[in-house]
Amino acid sequence: MSLHGPVAIILAAGQGKRMKSDKAKVLHEVCGRPMIGYVVDAARGAGARTIIVVIGYAAAQVLESLHDEPNILFVTQSEQLGTGHAVKICRAILADYQGPVMVLVGDEPLLRPEPLADLLARQEHDQAACLLGTAKVHDPMGFGRILRDSAGRFLRIVEERDCAPEEKAIREVNPSCYVFQLPLLWDALDQIGTSNAQHEYYLTDAPERLLAMGHKVMALNVLRADDILGVNTRQHLAQATTVMQARIQDHWMTEGVTIVDPHNTYIDGRATIGRDTVIHPFTVISGQVKIGAGCQVGPFAHLRDGTVLENDVEVGAFVEVSRSHIDSGTIARHLAYLGNASVGRDVNVGAGTITANFDGSRKHETKIGDRVRIGAGAVMVAPVAIGHDAVIGAGAVITRGKHIKSGDTVVGVPARSLSARTDDR
Ligand code: UD1
Ligand code: CA
Repeated sequence: MSLHGPVAIILAAGQGKRMKSDKAKVLHEVCGRPMIGYVVDAARGAGARTIIVVIGYAAAQVLESLHDEPNILFVTQSEQLGTGHAVKICRAILADYQGPVMVLVGDEPLLRPEPLADLLARQEHDQAACLLGTAKVHDPMGFGRILRDSAGRFLRIVEERDCAPEEKAIREVNPSCYVFQLPLLWDALDQIGTSNAQHEYYLTDAPERLLAMGHKVMALNVLRADDILGVNTRQHLAQATTVMQARIQDHWMTEGVTIVDPHNTYIDGRATIGRDTVIHPFTVISGQVKIGAGCQVGPFAHLRDGTVLENDVEVGAFVEVSRSHIDSGTIARHLAYLGNASVGRDVNVGAGTITANFDGSRKHETKIGDRVRIGAGAVMVAPVAIGHDAVIGAGAVITRGKHIKSGDTVVGVPARSLSARTDDR
């Protein structure tokens, strides 16, 4: 099989013991998305044309989480013998490939493509056997340290567990962002052993091996501390989420969205928001949500997956919207649940309005026409349809399967047409 380069290998076979989880570490979510997805994006954004993901622990779930992604190959590492071993087992799939291979780890969701593209470009320019990106951090705990000679030339990486006390103080660290030249890397990996604190094959030994073999190896300080936050614990996961959330909000503010209180707002990475929309505090936007321009959202609103708000929609306090399309000018200002609903333009949804969309086994649709006025506390037991300009009285319960005619007014439990009642008399 001939592969298109550059190739990226992403290591994602480990369990992540320190997460204390039944789930593979790389599947833990940051702002609504598994970590591994961000790393795949960063590799692609940097120019990788073929991506190999090394899977092992909970392999099926990791594979499933990436099933929509094009040009990904999977290699299974059945026993996690170390990062060096994880790369080594990619040899068969890369047998006919010569050229650069970028190696990344799946637990660094904050990696951005720019510095990685930089590394690839430098490697191509210098034709080094190995280029490793480094970062200088305030607190190097948990990272391998970069050792340089008195002239500043790269010597080797020392894992924290194997560090002498003076090496522990080094603040330039190995974020596990490498570009290696193939097939040279295979020769180096053949030479590494397991005489270290963890008795594992360390990929971190490969650059030192290549140097010893007389090849060019360089360590470039191209990464920033907040690019390389490695998630090894739940605490790290929360930190990564905080940084990612700030990036997401920064993006939307740059696009013209007002976020009144960034620290108390949660926006999923997959959501989109139009300009001049205002997001008030304590709003949670989760999943694929599309918000138009000029909307008012929150405080205390919960917009869930599959929600579309067209322009100038108001969704206020304690309103939850899920899998629903709300057309422009519609207002649901307080205490409502709209699920599996399609709501027309300029509708007023009264306080306490509920679409009862779930019958215990299936979800059903509620259709509400344009300019409908819904009184406080109305319940619509789906499936129901309400024609344009209809008026629903406060406390009305529209029972399952009902179709309210355009312009009709209905009241009561179960809701009955006022015009029909006139006819009855
Ligand atoms: C590794 C580096 C360390 C670096 C740090 C930050 C080594 C020996 N150490 O340590 O220098 O500072 O990352 O990124 O490489 N994995 C496999 N198969 C294995 C072992 C690990 O696929 O057999 C995967 C894990 O799923 C994980 C990644 O490799 O996504 C890194 O493994 P992890 O155990 O987190 O390494 P660190 O101890 O963080
Ligand atoms: Ca790690």
